[in-house]
Amino acid sequence: MNKIIITGGAGFIGSHVVRRFVTTYPDYEIINLDKLTYAGNLANLQDIEARPNYRFVKGDITDAGFIDNLFATEQPDAIIHLAAESHVDRSISNPIEFVLTNVVGTVNLLNAARKYWEGAYDKHRFYHVSTDEVYGALGDTGMFTEETSYDPHSPYSASKASSDHFVRAYHDTYGLDIVISNCSNNYGSHHFPEKLIPLAIHNIKNNKSVPVYGKGENVRDWLWVVDHARAIDVIFHQAASGQTYNIGGHNEWKNIDLIQLLCSIMDRKLGRPEGESAKLITYVKDRAGHDLRYAIDATKLKHDLGWEPSLQFEEGLEKTVDWYLANEDWLASVTSGNYQQYYEEQYVKR
Ligand code: NAD
Ligand code: DAU
Repeated sequence: MNKIIITGGAGFIGSHVVRRFVTTYPDYEIINLDKLTYAGNLANLQDIEARPNYRFVKGDITDAGFIDNLFATEQPDAIIHLAAESHVDRSISNPIEFVLTNVVGTVNLLNAARKYWEGAYDKHRFYHVSTDEVYGALGDTGMFTEETSYDPHSPYSASKASSDHFVRAYHDTYGLDIVISNCSNNYGSHHFPEKLIPLAIHNIKNNKSVPVYGKGENVRDWLWVVDHARAIDVIFHQAASGQTYNIGGHNEWKNIDLIQLLCSIMDRKLGRPEGESAKLITYVKDRAGHDLRYAIDATKLKHDLGWEPSLQFEEGLEKTVDWYLANEDWLASVTSGNYQQYYEEQYVKR
């Protein structure tokens, strides 16, 4: 399975997955299929874009004709599917985009896989990258396992749950070789600054208020994105067909505690007096339907395939802050919108 289409490869997690596959497997052919929505930034892959085993294709997974044609011409061995609308707040204001990309887009890919791989399903693989949010919300105790019933609350998680069901249905109905992983919150480099950690780093750096929803009591389970990409690699290569794996960091933080930690790291890095950045914390109106707590039990992945997170959160957060401070150009181009010219300048005009 050497020719792989990775969808959403210009986004946050997708770019780490593309980098991992391109650099770890020089004999693979990696095609990055991405529409380049506001969340897609090809500059994320500047360091590997000249590699001979990497190619970018601009395209929209909601366009069934385009996807069919791509399968016909490229004849991929496998798909690793990450393309999605990924931000919960945006799903609350514009749910239909999430239905189109996350549900219809996924079914378009499944249909193409079903058609072009027919008769040889055991030689191909459809890997769907999903989220722990499909399981709903936890109270103060307990963890999500692979057996937890689906109970999505936001339009985002409802769309991801729906796409998971379609992927399983194509396995059960047509025999497609599929695997699904459901991961907790990722953090690390190249994260779009609409999400909590990069938004907070950006705002603290620029002395702007740091919005904390509600009382800041919500809990998320944070995983370094590079560890997520490694888990995807392991699952892609080793999981049995039809399997689901939870991926998580065993690393729960209340939002307010996380932001306090971030503020103190930023004080130290920016040479500010301790406590200075925390003055920027501003409690704002809560997110509608805000899930209280997520926590992943990743025992199955450790037991079956030997994967474990490699990095302690405090160390990872420090590394992440260092990356954003060392890459102010990246953050500036994303916040100004200039990053959208990268494709035009580097790929179209060349
Ligand atoms: P992201 O928003 O950073 O990137 C999404 C990518 O998909 C972008 O490059 C975008 O251009 C592309 N895309 C969107 N619509 C498209 C379309 N119609 N056709 C082709 N490409 C399209 O997202 P992310 O945070 O990197 O998440 C990637 C995947 O991982 C998603 O499926 C998400 O549900 C899942 N996930 C994310 C997290 C997390 O913490 N960020 C955790 C678990 C699972
Ligand atoms: O759990 C996995 C999910 O994690 C992924 O499936 C999603 O794609 C990803 O975006 C992420 O969802 P969250 O909603 O948990 O991430 P976000 O960074 O938006 O918010 C993290 C927490 O911080 C959440 O409880 C809401 C809160 N928050 C968020 C923002 C943007 C704030 O308090 N203030 C903010 O400004």
